[in-house]
Amino acid sequence: MERTFIAVKPDGVQRGLVGEVIRRFEAKGFTLVGLKLLQVSKDLAEQHYGEHQEKPFFPGLVAFITSGPVVAMVWEGKGVVAAARKMIGATNPLNSEPGTLRGDYGIDIGRNIIHGSDAVETAQREIGLWFQSEELASWEPSLSSWIYE
Ligand code: RTP
Ligand code: MG
Repeated sequence: MERTFIAVKPDGVQRGLVGEVIRRFEAKGFTLVGLKLLQVSKDLAEQHYGEHQEKPFFPGLVAFITSGPVVAMVWEGKGVVAAARKMIGATNPLNSEPGTLRGDYGIDIGRNIIHGSDAVETAQREIGLWFQSEELASWEPSLSSWIYE
């Protein structure tokens, strides 16, 4: 089953949106298989956002992600990587559709609440970066037959 890496960024944690993020993913039918709150190190932030190393916003992005606690999660389900990106919305919250997390809760691009892996391979890399394998639980919710046909 496909897995994706989701993180509620420091702005989302400070604004009390952790529960809302979890609620939406649970309500959709996805399965939570990993969850922790952590203060992100500069090293982890730089590795996580390594693809943006040369961008002008990189130092500010790393400073922001390390500025307060982050809630890191792994969610599982059919098509979860792409579905999570749709639930999150466009990078700039002013361009995100209402009904998406960023569209409902954000304004500025540098305060866009939540991260989600952008592809299946990215998700595998990010899950390995943020979680030890023993921190992830493989389980089948008893509701499965009411969510999948
Ligand atoms: P994320 O990785 O955080 O889920 O966001 P994303 O895929 O939608 O966007 P990405 O291009 O990967 O950018 C990572 C984060 O960098 C900040 N950013 N700032 N000032 C800018 O032009 C700019 N562009 C990107 C955003 O906070 C974005 O989420
Ligand atoms: Mg990204």
